[in-house]
Amino acid sequence: MNISPISQVVGARITGVNLSQPISPDQFSRLEEALHTHGFIVLPGQSLSPASMVQFARRWGRPEPHVIDTFHHPEDANVLMLSNVYRDGKPVGLVDAGTYFHSDYSYLADAARCTMLYATNVPSGRNGTTFANQALAYAELPQDMRERIDSLVVNHHYGNRDDLDTSSRTVASVLNDSQKKKVDWVQHPLVRPHPYTGQKALYAVSGSSFSVEGLSELEGRALLDELKEHATQDKYCHTYDYANGDVIVWDNALLLHSAPLIDLTRPRELWRVTVKYTNT
Ligand SMILES: [Fe+2]
Repeated sequence: MNISPISQVVGARITGVNLSQPISPDQFSRLEEALHTHGFIVLPGQSLSPASMVQFARRWGRPEPHVIDTFHHPEDANVLMLSNVYRDGKPVGLVDAGTYFHSDYSYLADAARCTMLYATNVPSGRNGTTFANQALAYAELPQDMRERIDSLVVNHHYGNRDDLDTSSRTVASVLNDSQKKKVDWVQHPLVRPHPYTGQKALYAVSGSSFSVEGLSELEGRALLDELKEHATQDKYCHTYDYANGDVIVWDNALLLHSAPLIDLTRPRELWRVTVKYTNT
């Protein structure tokens, strides 16, 4: 197994692993350590079925199908199909892959450990996801700000606090009434120690975070906006463009990510599995 960093701030490429075969505990712990060090890992040149993708995902935790259940893979509901392709006038997958900075499932009490994508059909050129290193962003905050925010608690809800217009292209994917019933307000620490390493990071300061406990709506919003602006500066970000056969895994405790929509004339199809921390 060979592990090489992709950028100065986030990401590593890992070769010498075939994910269509079961991987050994030793191989898995090296992948896990790489994920916790680099925030996301890319394993190029893979050839996966829905079953082998889900088998690999289960090594990390329990797969949790997305609240939008329209685009589950017919062979395995744990696989969500992301696509901008239309057949017979209907989308074949979820078109919006999260066009604003967010952390997956931060609107749930039991948030996502990591998210895995498998690139099955991607165009060349810009087609990827931008990742922002939230541990680094936290570490580089002035000490007085770190002390101010260290014990704050944030109220989260499904959606994008910067865009609640359901007709906009950067709103969170719109839920139907029964999907809406499945989501409620939840709380998370603003500075969240990593569940495995304890490393502190800003958690979901963009996306589902709407207000801060103990602060007025205005004050809370202003603080979240200030932290978002800091945490999504270019110096904390790297955009990874997918190639067919890439498997990417990212750590939702360490990163924010954003996947801008690409031109609909350039087909892009990816499979996604999101896993929780627990294995039960
Ligand atoms: Fe996402």
